[in-house]
Amino acid sequence: MKPEERHLFIEACFRRPVERTPVWMMRQAGRYLPEYRAIREKYDFITMYKTPELVAEVTLQPVHRLQVDAAILFSDILVIPEAMGMALEFRERQGPVLLEPIRQVGQIPSLKPVEPETDLNFVLEGIRLVRRELEGRVPLIGFSGAPWTLATYMIEGGASRNFGHIKRWRFGQPDALHQLLERISDAVVAYCRAQIAAGAQAIQLFDSWAGILDAAGFEAFALRYVRKIIQEIRTPGVPIIYFARGVGAWLPRLATCGADVVGLDWQVDLRTARQILGPRMALQGNLDPTALYAPPPVIRQLVREMLKRYGAGSGHVANLGHGILPDVPVEHARAFIEAVKTESPVFHNTSETERLP
Ligand code: CP3
Repeated sequence: MKPEERHLFIEACFRRPVERTPVWMMRQAGRYLPEYRAIREKYDFITMYKTPELVAEVTLQPVHRLQVDAAILFSDILVIPEAMGMALEFRERQGPVLLEPIRQVGQIPSLKPVEPETDLNFVLEGIRLVRRELEGRVPLIGFSGAPWTLATYMIEGGASRNFGHIKRWRFGQPDALHQLLERISDAVVAYCRAQIAAGAQAIQLFDSWAGILDAAGFEAFALRYVRKIIQEIRTPGVPIIYFARGVGAWLPRLATCGADVVGLDWQVDLRTARQILGPRMALQGNLDPTALYAPPPVIRQLVREMLKRYGAGSGHVANLGHGILPDVPVEHARAFIEAVKTESPVFHNTSETERLP
């Protein structure tokens, strides 16, 4: 069989049998890698993700160095607000800032519909380059921010302590917020479809700020839009992953999101999550990213415990519960990847797993 015909990562996403658990890391294309920092010394972050050759190079760095089982495109979720016409600046030590956040309902009509082939061609070209260079070794994950998380950035403008602006909309003018979320959803659908057409083999929707909502708000302002997007971008053979951070209290609700895979943060117990979500979807995660500060033997033990919490059988994609931190030693990241590869086969071998607790 040619390598591109069967990928462990894709198989596990669809809960088909695999010989071991596949593994990759959120933010694997980033600052903990010296080769990333070397490029970053020469270019600012925005120039990097707008240059397809650099996108391809950085995307492949963790594949070459750590042999992860999937590549994730080097880009950012804020390309959508930018394509909708919002000015974006990257500030060292602070991160991305939208210079004129949306604070009035009247600003919504000035947001442009997104045409990925023109507005975001640097992403699509990056995808085509990566696919060519990967030659089918591992699949490429494309991604987008989910509407709620993008709206949070667009209204707050950047990092926020209390999310006072968007919360004011959520409780005080929900109709305006829905109007904004509709527009963002249209952009996300067009963007994800274009990524798949360009060669993305899986799509992850990042809802990093879902956890600031209340239960009813999570349903009305986050899940409702995610469900619709997933229906509209669904493509045979292309798994869709929904990563929502801080939503452990709403697992039964999460089961209705329609994704093939749910990404979980480290506060969720994998065994409980599997009982609730397992019959319908695969699970991705969820080692605490700060666990990678521990020495490699401890990392190995923590990985063993994570794999055991999920238990026997397919349907698990090992990952961190959020992005890898910039000051984690590369050797610790390697220990994480290696531990999943060497410790997980026992959970997929039927004669052995019969003896598991
Ligand atoms: O996972 C990957 O390696 C792919 C690339 C990727 C980046 N950002 C690169 C990046 C992905 C998937 C993202 C998603 C993203 N971006 C999210 C959702 C996931 C999450 O972490 O919650 C969010 C909220 C953003 C917005 C963003 N981008 C912030 C808040 C920051 C600053 C904080 C930080 O981590 O530096 C960024 C910058 C960013 N995005 C960097 C990278 C490699 C660092 C840029 C640099 O200084 O070199």
